[in-house]
Amino acid sequence: MRADRYTAVMITTTTPAPPREAPPSAPTAEQLARWDREHVWHAFTQMQEYEPLLIERGSGAWLVDTAGRRYIDGSASMWCVVHGHRHPRLDRALVEQAGRVAHTTNLGLSNPTTVALARRLVEVAPAGLEKVFFSDDGSTAIEAALKMAFQFWLQADPPRPARRRFVALDDAYHGDTLGAVGVGGVDRFTDLFAPLTFEAIRLPVPMERGSTMVRAVDAAACLARLEALLAAEGDSIAAVVMEPLVQAAGGILVHPPGFLAAVRRVTAAHGVLLILDEVATGFGRTGRMFACDHEGVVPDFLCLAKGLTAGYLPMAATLTTQRVWNAFLGSHGDRRTFFHGHTYGGNPLAAAVALESLAIFDDRHVLKHVTEIAGRLADHLARIARLEHVGAVRQCGLLAGIELVADRDPLTAYPWEERRGARACLEARRHGVLLRPLGDVVAIVPPLCISADELDLLATAVEAGIVAATA
Ligand SMILES: Cc1ncc(COP(=O)(O)O)c(C=O)c1O
Repeated sequence: MRADRYTAVMITTTTPAPPREAPPSAPTAEQLARWDREHVWHAFTQMQEYEPLLIERGSGAWLVDTAGRRYIDGSASMWCVVHGHRHPRLDRALVEQAGRVAHTTNLGLSNPTTVALARRLVEVAPAGLEKVFFSDDGSTAIEAALKMAFQFWLQADPPRPARRRFVALDDAYHGDTLGAVGVGGVDRFTDLFAPLTFEAIRLPVPMERGSTMVRAVDAAACLARLEALLAAEGDSIAAVVMEPLVQAAGGILVHPPGFLAAVRRVTAAHGVLLILDEVATGFGRTGRMFACDHEGVVPDFLCLAKGLTAGYLPMAATLTTQRVWNAFLGSHGDRRTFFHGHTYGGNPLAAAVALESLAIFDDRHVLKHVTEIAGRLADHLARIARLEHVGAVRQCGLLAGIELVADRDPLTAYPWEERRGARACLEARRHGVLLRPLGDVVAIVPPLCISADELDLLATAVEAGIVAATA
């Protein structure tokens, strides 16, 4: 009998097993740091200057590095860890789902956990957003919205193929995939790639208080520009895309109250779609579940990611309306399908954690806590604002930015190559707080669960960091 692969394996198991190699010992912290420098290409990082810091574990608002040093996670690990690290309920939800199935595709197939999450998202989102398209990161949530908006007008009744341009704000940040870069407005991230993207029509940032970072105008002037644009060219515009209330990565640029609602009114009046990017502001960050809840605004597309899975797994969702959905219906031959998707979109492990995270929002009065603790942060910021080289402080809920300036009168930026913001954050690290700057803005974006004592520690470290970096 000819041995096939399986019988051959059985035969070899009857011969004495070769002596086992000793398992390799775990790499030391020094080795890991070296390998990190040698092999890992870090995002938004000049690798020639990179100094490794390896985080080994976390708990609540705290992170611990490989040397056992403890830090408050002042950036919520890039703004997504909402309930803190190693939350027992989230850990359990993840393990329980892994015991059922880790991944099933959502291309023409479904699973109970992802369906339940879609249902729950529709319940917590502003009324009218009933359809959920899952992807895996903030950028992909935006890409999906841009492509859906574009395709919607091709298939609307009657079709409006001329509506194909997008309006976005200066200094907006919507992610790093090419469509998202096209609507992004932070020059240092987008200029280089401009030849690869489409160009959006830009509006100035509506922000009345001074900043060295942006060409800001007051909200009325910005709205007047939008109204004039849509009156003259609305028939060629697919959608306005914006971060509601706060342009986060642009430097925590806080819009005045009422601006968002006014944008909704103007876009609706001209039949232009509104895409709200709540990747940074969503899931409690501003004190409401979504920033648009503050002004009772219902967009045509709501883009969610980051806090959706509380920092556990990559997952994003683009929510939209029955009206948009209807434009995509038809038989296969009608070619109205949305031909777009991502392998891990709707992943059930991520969905299980997201569902449990939403349950924690319900059970633990998270939003009430955010409002209270944001008040305490405001007190700290008022003190920090008096420092000689603080040009402005901006805050919306637990999203705050402190802008460092060479001079306050007239407002003068530091030369960018001095990297004062980065230096302030490195100094704060010596006081046990991890932060990530946005140029010369020190951003404070802690886990929503941060306690009053932890916030006090954080603020003290931020203040010490700024004093040292601007001395
Ligand atoms: C408002 C906003 N949109 C989109 C993104 C991109 O998200 P991701 O990095 O998950 O692709 C970010 C990331 O910081 C963001 O702040």
